[in-house]
Amino acid sequence: MVDEKIIDRKLDHLKIPIEFDVQTSENYFKYIKFVHHSLPEYDINEIDISVNFFNKVIDAPICIAGMTGGHPISKKINKILANAAEKENIVLGVGSQRAALEKPANIDSFKIINEIAPNIPKIGNIGIGQISDKDFQENDFQKCIDMINADAIAIHFNALHEMLQPNGNTSYKLFEKNFTKIRAQFDIPIIAKETGTGFNKEIAIKLDSLGFDGFDIGGYGGTNFSAIESIRNNYPKKFTRKPADIFKNWGIPTPVSILYVRNISKKLIIATGGIRSGIDIVKSIILGADFGGLAYNFLVSAWKDLEENSILNTINEIKTLKNEIRSCLWLLNVKNIEELKGNHKKIIILGNLYRWLEQPKY
Ligand SMILES: Cc1cc2nc3c(=O)[nH]c(=O)nc-3n(C[C@H](O)[C@H](O)[C@H](O)COP(=O)(O)O)c2cc1C
Repeated sequence: MVDEKIIDRKLDHLKIPIEFDVQTSENYFKYIKFVHHSLPEYDINEIDISVNFFNKVIDAPICIAGMTGGHPISKKINKILANAAEKENIVLGVGSQRAALEKPANIDSFKIINEIAPNIPKIGNIGIGQISDKDFQENDFQKCIDMINADAIAIHFNALHEMLQPNGNTSYKLFEKNFTKIRAQFDIPIIAKETGTGFNKEIAIKLDSLGFDGFDIGGYGGTNFSAIESIRNNYPKKFTRKPADIFKNWGIPTPVSILYVRNISKKLIIATGGIRSGIDIVKSIILGADFGGLAYNFLVSAWKDLEENSILNTINEIKTLKNEIRSCLWLLNVKNIEELKGNHKKIIILGNLYRWLEQPKY
């Protein structure tokens, strides 16, 4: 049975971050400072910011984080994002493919991505709720891969968001059993993706041992789904306070989650959650990530492009990020991304972030 409410909800999720301020109140990247190098040894044009995403070489460690699909507007936005990502040769993620599994007419809004961007790495997306469903079939996973000719699939972990939505999915008891079946059957890289609340060490150890190939740590600090649900204002009237308001500050900050996960795993890490510039991507890589992922910046650029019937705003956002990453490496006297990874000597950690890290509980 198709839930038409999913379609309306998808539109709300796209429009609310544009029309309202739903960013978290504290972005922890501000507590990371660089140790400047006054006499860079390299010409700035010698700096190489290219990286590998599994087997594909791409221009920069930038990922457009999974956002959309399953609505006529999503198709237009996905078309813009795919066009820009293909031209600039970066990684592209799509939003949850659930809507297309439940209503084949929605497949179009995802399929467009492979038609427009056949060469770049593409990440499919499905939720822990769907994987944990008693009716989930391995064939559904295959459909997600085929729909976009995916290079990897992200399984998103969004317990807080599900808890805040009416009829959200709040039982994941079958997750491990169903995931194990999928893992045994599919060779495609599978990424565990958080969506704004971050992974702790304990869950990262578990997911690593279950056979995930990488993490998108999706930490606290960026677009805040509690704030979005607070605006959507759906909550049982028996409560005296909106749960979405009470849980607005819930989550592990992005820089903390990168460190937690890198401490226990050598696998791929994408850092999302409050990355707003190339500088934040460089900070993430120094902490141990391989890529920086951005949703909000690309939602804003794609929305502008939609209004202007263009792709220039999105292209320019990618060019800006690339330039910021290159400039940052130059000023740190680092020649390429490999040299940057985990190079903690290049940063100083201050304030509330330092305090989090002083309490190594997890
Ligand atoms: C409009 C919108 C829709 C999103 N939909 C999904 C989704 O379907 N699946 C998913 O894994 N993450 C989804 N996300 C979460 C993003 O991928 C990302 O983890 C989060 O927004 C934090 O990044 P940001 O601070 O750069 O926005 C969505 C984010 C936005 C803004």
